[in-house]
Amino acid sequence: MERPGTGVNQRTVRVQASSKSYDVIVGSGLLASLGGLVRPVVSNARKALLIHDARLPTALVESCGRSLTAAGCVPVLQAFEASESNKVLAQAEFLHTRAAAARLDRHDLVVALGGGIVGDVAGFVGATFKRGLRVIQCPTTLLAMVDASVGGKTGVNLRHEGVLLKNYVGTFHQPELVVASVDALQTLPVREFRAGLAECIKHAMISADWGDPGLWDWTSHAIGAILKRAPNALVELVARNVAVKAAVVGSDERELDESGGRALLNLGHTFAHAIETLPGISPDGDPVHAPLLHGEAVALGLQAACATAVALGLFEIAEAVRVRNLLEEAGLPIGVRRLPPGERVLERMASDKKSIAGAMRLVLPTGRGRASVVQSPEPTAVIRGIASISVP
Ligand code: GLY
Repeated sequence: MERPGTGVNQRTVRVQASSKSYDVIVGSGLLASLGGLVRPVVSNARKALLIHDARLPTALVESCGRSLTAAGCVPVLQAFEASESNKVLAQAEFLHTRAAAARLDRHDLVVALGGGIVGDVAGFVGATFKRGLRVIQCPTTLLAMVDASVGGKTGVNLRHEGVLLKNYVGTFHQPELVVASVDALQTLPVREFRAGLAECIKHAMISADWGDPGLWDWTSHAIGAILKRAPNALVELVARNVAVKAAVVGSDERELDESGGRALLNLGHTFAHAIETLPGISPDGDPVHAPLLHGEAVALGLQAACATAVALGLFEIAEAVRVRNLLEEAGLPIGVRRLPPGERVLERMASDKKSIAGAMRLVLPTGRGRASVVQSPEPTAVIRGIASISVP
């Protein structure tokens, strides 16, 4: 369906998780009508704590606020400096105090406007203030649109023994509604846009078992239009990726299925988590560009997962080459300098929070659009995977 006056399509994807069902609306120019989209979903909300990325244009934030006001929901605007080091309990507590100062009650809302960090923190604040308010997610980055805003994961990092443990404190709290307005992507820095594409390529690598066997081929063919940020290509990209994620989340909301389900979304992530916090690593070898963005680390993780799967005889070399080519076309890194020796990266992977009883679980590709969870993979194969992304 075309959204009137924009010439851009609009799509709605339903997420049916066991705890809650909700819509993800994907289109253009949606944030200026946010109040009208929110009101039918949460008819009795009187106030909304609108937590927004401090870097977003004031005009965008204010237009969301005006639209909520027009719909009879008083917005309380609160900027958040989005960074991994700021995504901690102390900041969540500060936001709780803002909710208290605004006298939010159980009928009221938290609205998250920004990228994945804002969505995670605001979602956590919404999930925990007065034991849980309703949350509206308004992602403004590609990564947040196709991944973080959908599926109800919320949380903050935990500082422990000098290390920032990612997402160690959090809860599942599904939003009431997700509003993904792709016009927000037009001003996203190119590096951040490409980083979001890594999660899209990951979804395409698992999509065959989750309702969209054509997603890999479509993404490969549409990559030019996607990189040009053609609005209708973006709507299709986001809607199809959200649909894959919705299918996965619908099958295993709390990631309890050890042999598949939501764990499949960790394809490439065990490698990524082990390298993304290493100091001095950058996508192009220039330390000025360090650290890696999460999506860049995921791209490297996807490449390493492919090489590991090839070494284990699970994945054909020709398919691995296709993945590498698409990552390169998307402008994502497939190798980096200054990686520690493979054994050390492997140790860091084994301590990933997704390991169970100390045994590493890796999600590896097994065919076009297909992946599986592999328990305790042969370490030499994993080290070959790591070697494939290490540039001497
Ligand atoms: N980003 C992975 C998940 O939502 O499960």
